[in-house]
Amino acid sequence: MIGATQKNKFNLSEEITYLNTAYSAPLSKEAERIGIEALSKKCRPNEYNGADFFEPVEQLKSLFAQLIDVPNPQSIAIIPSVSYGIASVANNICFKEGDEIIVVGEQFPSNIYSWKRIADKYSTNIITVSAPETTSNRGKFWNENILNAINENTIVISIPNVHWADGTIFNLKAIREKATTNNALLIIDGTQSIGALPFSVEEIKPDAVICAGYKWLMGPYALGLAYYGEYFNNGIPIEENWINRKNSEDFSGLVNYEDNYKEGANRYSVGEMSNFNLVPMLIKTIEQILEWTPESIQNYCEKITKEAIEELQLMGCFIEKDEFRSNHLFGIKLAENMDMNRLQEELKANNIFVSIRGENIRVAPHVFNTKDDLQKLVNCFRKSLKA
Ligand SMILES: Cc1ncc(COP(=O)(O)O)c(C=O)c1O
Repeated sequence: MIGATQKNKFNLSEEITYLNTAYSAPLSKEAERIGIEALSKKCRPNEYNGADFFEPVEQLKSLFAQLIDVPNPQSIAIIPSVSYGIASVANNICFKEGDEIIVVGEQFPSNIYSWKRIADKYSTNIITVSAPETTSNRGKFWNENILNAINENTIVISIPNVHWADGTIFNLKAIREKATTNNALLIIDGTQSIGALPFSVEEIKPDAVICAGYKWLMGPYALGLAYYGEYFNNGIPIEENWINRKNSEDFSGLVNYEDNYKEGANRYSVGEMSNFNLVPMLIKTIEQILEWTPESIQNYCEKITKEAIEELQLMGCFIEKDEFRSNHLFGIKLAENMDMNRLQEELKANNIFVSIRGENIRVAPHVFNTKDDLQKLVNCFRKSLKA
């Protein structure tokens, strides 16, 4: 359990209130130290050895497998971005005209553009299930509408676990059940949840999970992780690199060109996956998350946000009901008597960092935040009330 703020593990300025991990997590002091060490090793390339290309990556895959409850780390691939991970999925599904691809409204573009490309190429249809235009039981209806959209034409449902703009939680277990009945694949973009919200592949049984590393995994930019299930075990990667082929450890035999890939998801790892600078940092940050545990991060965020959320709701703001939203990421829709411009001025004047996403002020706290940080935010909302 996380009893108190972990701010001393980070280099955040005392002058600011950072409530924006959904935008980018601060690197911990420890991960920064490891990153600097890793970078300076490039001044002495003689110190790299063959094992450096493989062992840290194996460690990283094992840690991520542990975090998302995957029994075999060879089902994990190293990716540079979510768009890359989704492209590997989209390129390995056999589509036919009339197939339906389900996404949710205002989904992050890296989980949209590959599907648009497929829709143009194969005359498939993208079915977008938008948020219901209501504040009453919005999360419940949105989930029901997703379930109702799944039918025998559905080939793939590619959605997040938690909506990136407002924190709505999608009921993946129920969606998986209906997907299975209709022989559809379930693909999850876990970027805005994994690390801060418990997630189990064993429980949900998705066909793929794609996750950027720089938000709730708290790692550096340009390094992410993906799980690919059995369906993708014989697929074709979007690029052909030497390191994903069998026996690539044998540097002297690399020109004995090898037709076979390494087992499982390894074929989908990006070229130069050994990324000597970034891999050690992400190892460190996932180790720290495993020590804290996603469950206790979620509980900590609930504890520090509860009163602020109640106050904002009393002021007339809309925030999704507890059971349909996460505690580490939530959207606040302004009350009618609030002025968005004034609110933004107040946030700026008080050095409070949140994001504006669609109609929402997106708030994304973490273990370095406190109740006081949330109170400062509430005060800005109060000052934005029109006279
Ligand atoms: C839900 C979600 N997915 C993915 C990303 C990042 O995508 P990419 O790694 O392709 O830049 C973001 C960034 O905000 C996001 O919120």
